[in-house]
Amino acid sequence: MRLQPLHRVVRFLRAGDESVDQGDLMWAVSQLRPEERPLFSAMSPADQAHSVRVARIVEEGRSDLDGPSDDPWIIRAALLHDVGKSCVPLGRTGRALGTVTAWVGAGPVLRGVVGPSSRLGRVAEYTRYPALGSALLRDAGSDPRVVAWAEEHHRPPAAWSVPADAGRLLASADDAA
Ligand SMILES: [Fe+2]
Ligand SMILES: [Fe+2]
Repeated sequence: MRLQPLHRVVRFLRAGDESVDQGDLMWAVSQLRPEERPLFSAMSPADQAHSVRVARIVEEGRSDLDGPSDDPWIIRAALLHDVGKSCVPLGRTGRALGTVTAWVGAGPVLRGVVGPSSRLGRVAEYTRYPALGSALLRDAGSDPRVVAWAEEHHRPPAAWSVPADAGRLLASADDAA
C-alpha cells in the first residue's frame, strides 16, 4: 500500500530546509541527459535531496528487474518524478495544502473558482504537478517511460504504463525516501 497523503505532508514538513550532498548532486547530474539537467537544477534543494534518495534505492534494487539492468531510464525516472513541483511557486504550507487538496480530489473544482495567480490558485495548480512535470520532460525529449512515470507516480498500479516491476520499485522507493 502506498504512503498516505497525510504521512507525505508530515514527512514534508519535517524535512526542513534540506539540501542535497555535493557528491550526490554530482552523481545525479551524471545520470541525467544534458537536456534534463536544467530541469533537475530548477527543483528545490529538498526535492532534489528526496529524489536522490529515491534514485539511490532504485539503483540498489534494479538488478532484480526484467530487462537490461544498466538501462538508465529508471534512475532518471526516480530523479525527475517530482520535477513538476518546480513549476508552481509555493511555500511549505501551500504545498502541504496542495497535497491534501489533490488527495480529496478537489483540484479541478478549486481551479474553477479561483484565479490562477492567487495563492489558492497556485495551490490548485500544484495539484497538477504530475502532468506539468510530464509535459516538461516530454519537451526535453526524455525517455517515454520517464515522461510517463512523472505523470503516473501517484496513480494506482492498474493505471501505470511503465513495466509493473519497475513501477513497484519506483513507488516503494518513493514511499521510503
Ligand atoms: Fe510526487
Ligand atoms: Fe516523490
